[in-house]
Amino acid sequence: MTFDFATPIDRRQPQGGAWPSQKWHRYGDDVLPLWVADMDFCSPPQVIDALQARVEHGVYGYGVVPASLKDALCQWSATHYDYVIEPSWQHWLPGVVPALHLASLAFTEPGDGVLTVTPIYPPFLQVASRTGRLAQQAALRAPDAGDDGWSLDLEALEAAITDKTRLLLWCQPHNPTGRVWRSAELAGLAELAQRHDLIVVSDELHCDLLLDEGARHVPLAVAFPELGERLMTLWAPSKTFNLAGLTAACAVISNPKLRKRFAATAKGLMPDCNVMGLVAAEAAYRHGDPWRQALLEVLRDHRQALVERVAQWPGVRLAAPQSTYLAWLDLRESRLGGQGSPAAALLETAGVALSDGADFGWPGFVRLNFGTTAAQLEKALERLDEALG
Ligand SMILES: Cc1ncc(COP(=O)(O)O)c(C=O)c1O
Repeated sequence: MTFDFATPIDRRQPQGGAWPSQKWHRYGDDVLPLWVADMDFCSPPQVIDALQARVEHGVYGYGVVPASLKDALCQWSATHYDYVIEPSWQHWLPGVVPALHLASLAFTEPGDGVLTVTPIYPPFLQVASRTGRLAQQAALRAPDAGDDGWSLDLEALEAAITDKTRLLLWCQPHNPTGRVWRSAELAGLAELAQRHDLIVVSDELHCDLLLDEGARHVPLAVAFPELGERLMTLWAPSKTFNLAGLTAACAVISNPKLRKRFAATAKGLMPDCNVMGLVAAEAAYRHGDPWRQALLEVLRDHRQALVERVAQWPGVRLAAPQSTYLAWLDLRESRLGGQGSPAAALLETAGVALSDGADFGWPGFVRLNFGTTAAQLEKALERLDEALG
């Protein structure tokens, strides 16, 4: 089966503009949006078929997470990550970000420390303050010339831990750097979590998009089974199959005590999952893999095109992402360095919308989303050539 990742799809005026998207509607019509993390591609055909069948049913009352969906995720996990999970470990909810906040409420007390690393997907940085906890952060180590990318600074991480620290919000593969962490880094992290008695939330949302040929995701739970009693893993089909607007995600919690606390905290705060999201999730996990494989080839090509282009922009640095469709560009030494926000400058001068590194805790950087058609990416790169070349 072939899939079309090349034909541009109108996301600006679908149904005469009645279906606006965050990505395409935040900025003016002349701006090319390569910011928020969704892709400009249709979801797998089987997902669309399953949704159409569900729409045809015509009744959209309260649903229940189907046992068949839980089974599909068990199978996906065993097949792709060698992680055998039980249906009962799964707590489906309408998003990964809500799960991060619930984890803070469920597993810590007011004033406790919630630790994460920077740069990081911005909501991680808000969880502590939004839940009345203490925000704690440790910076990652930026690549040096000759390095093969961003690395976890275990000393900095340990230095950020205090006797208040209870929860570590972790992200693998990592948004925004696209890093797939090395096993020695993860071993150090696991050891710290054990020694300091931390609960770990491992956001593995991007784990189905490992870009290097033959690369396989290893969940934290598989690499370090000893963490199982203090671990919650977060997955969703949303990034992989481009379903973010259907809001379905899953917290996988093997420890029944943590699971119970999480479920009790969710009560009354968290709505049930969208019935459409559940249908889409099951179809994606059951039938979406050929589409995902085809997507990975496209993303690999886009990564290559981007890396070649960035090499021509003086002072711009990029450690090629190993996963997902996000690239984290260091513009501190570029033509735009030292001028406030490079993202704002690029929006203004090039008409390209990127995510501002400051929101991820690292000003001077931008995050570029290459999950779009080759034609759209090329158009944006031509504009960036003008501004950065
Ligand atoms: C690491 C990570 N976690 C969570 C999210 C958001 O997940 P959700 O839309 O399910 O809340 C994103 C979105 O880009 C992400 O990159």
